[in-house]
Formats: sequence, structure tokens, C-alpha cells
Amino acid sequence: MIYAANFKTNHTRQSTREYLGKLQPQLSKKNPNDKVYIFPPLTALDDYESADFRVGAQNAYPVENGAFTGEVGVEQLTEFNINTILIGHSERRDIIGESQEDVAKKFAFFKEQGFEIIYCIGESLEVREEGIEAVMTHLVSQFEGIDTSYDNFVVAYEPIWAIGTGRTASVDEITETHNALKKVVDKPLLYGGSVKGANIKEIAHVENVDGVLVGGASLKTETFLELVLH
Ligand code: 13P
Repeated sequence: MIYAANFKTNHTRQSTREYLGKLQPQLSKKNPNDKVYIFPPLTALDDYESADFRVGAQNAYPVENGAFTGEVGVEQLTEFNINTILIGHSERRDIIGESQEDVAKKFAFFKEQGFEIIYCIGESLEVREEGIEAVMTHLVSQFEGIDTSYDNFVVAYEPIWAIGTGRTASVDEITETHNALKKVVDKPLLYGGSVKGANIKEIAHVENVDGVLVGGASLKTETFLELVLH
């Protein structure tokens, strides 16, 4: 299993350091085959070297460096040995306004750089209510321009209506969607959307769930560890 913590716009450099300091000694208890990823805000990136977890960027601009005021490129990530990135999160698509074309450009660039890419897809409630065929049409459209054969590639399915709402997709919905997605992209497949201690067991048991991408429940070391060590 993969356990990925997406802090979003939470935590500071100092609190991230404290968090990782508390997390690290507990990770000796995890299953050695499980992988842990932490995505802190960009200002909290550092070279937190650990054999037990990997730190990635929530976002970056697809350039090495240059005149892109307010953005962070590869030069700023490699200072901290960061070579893992989240691309396509629904908050970036819907709030920041990244189009599929923007997302695909980012993907192509970071693929070229050899980054490990955790690529997020997900449908709105409106689409979900139309049924699985509409959901799959939408999700497949989010692979437009994406080289799904890239080796260093993990997909995160995060239904938008389940993010930060406390409303998790049902086991049946996750099963059906992940089974259909595996036929489209045969890559590790994470589920995200209100994953927490109370539902990790049933979600982790779903056949084609290879891990979870967690927002709210990842913000405290204790609640994230409830997932990693469940
Ligand atoms: P929550 O776990 O807070 O629902 O967020 C999920 C998410 O968006 C992770 O990327």
C-alpha cells in the first residue's frame, strides 16, 4: 500500500519538521512493503532524508528556472532532492483553473525530468449522479495528453464530492470505479476523499486500491499513523 499525505495549504516549515520528527520513529512499525509520501506546502520543503518516507511537491511550474514570478521550478525542487510531484489535483483544476492542457504540459515536463508523478483525477457530484458510464467518460478525458505508459506514474482517483466533505465514496463505488480504471491504466491506483481511521480498513481491502491520498486526516501525525499502521 501507498499512504500519501497531502497537507494542501496547511502546516509551516516548523510544524512540518515537528510532524516528520514524530512520524519517523513510528514508521519502523509499518509494513516494510508499504510506502509513505508527504506533500507539505512548498515553503516547508527541505532535505528531510529518510528511508521510511518520501517528500514530494504539491505543485510546481514546468520550467527549470526563469522569469515566472511567484512560481517554483525544478531548480528549486532539486535543491531539496525533491523528485516526486502531484499533478492534476481537483483543487488546482477547479479553484486555480488549470486546464487539461496545462495539466498535460506539466505532466510531459516532469516526465521528461524523470519525476515520480502522482496524477489526480476525479468527477463532480453532478457527473457521479449520472452513473458509472458518465463517470468513466469524465475520468478517461482527464488522461487526454497524458502518457499513461510512463513508468514512474501513480494514479489517484479522488471524487471531488468526497474531498474534505466527510462523505467517502462507498466501497461499491470505489470497487466499480477502480476496476474500470485498472482496465484503462494498469498503474498503482490510490483512492482519495475523506479517508480516515474509521474507514481505512474497508477501503484498503478493495482489490484494486493500491493506496490512499489523504488530506484532513493526514494533518496530525496521530491520525495519519492510524492509517499507515492500521
Ligand atoms: P480529504 O482527505 O481531506 O478529503 O482530502 C483528500 C484530498 O484531496 C487529498 O489530495
